Amino acid sequence: MSSETIRPDIDPVGRADRPLRITVDGDPVVGVHGQTLASVLLADGRSHWRTAPTGGPRGVFCGIGVCFDCVATVNGIPDVRLCRRPAREGDMVTTQTRIAEEDAR
Ligand code: FES
Repeated sequence: MSSETIRPDIDPVGRADRPLRITVDGDPVVGVHGQTLASVLLADGRSHWRTAPTGGPRGVFCGIGVCFDCVATVNGIPDVRLCRRPAREGDMVTTQTRIAEEDAR
């Protein structure tokens, strides 16, 4: 997926008339109704939101719900695929890491 996603405030199509607000690790992020959570995060300039056991950053890879690279915790529910989840007003996204889990074993 391209990192050249158009931010809602400069979208020439005018979709900014339907904004929504979410939080990502406590930071406010603005999106547009109809976007997936992954597209909201990409438009905010975030390329990854999960850390693999190897320490590598993970975000959107397939973009169609197959690879599970894009998972994060949404409203307390872990391992939600952000490329498949429509963004909703007030969603709380928390980034995930597997490093601590692997170290604990
Ligand atoms: S990017 Fe592959 S499942 Fe979301």
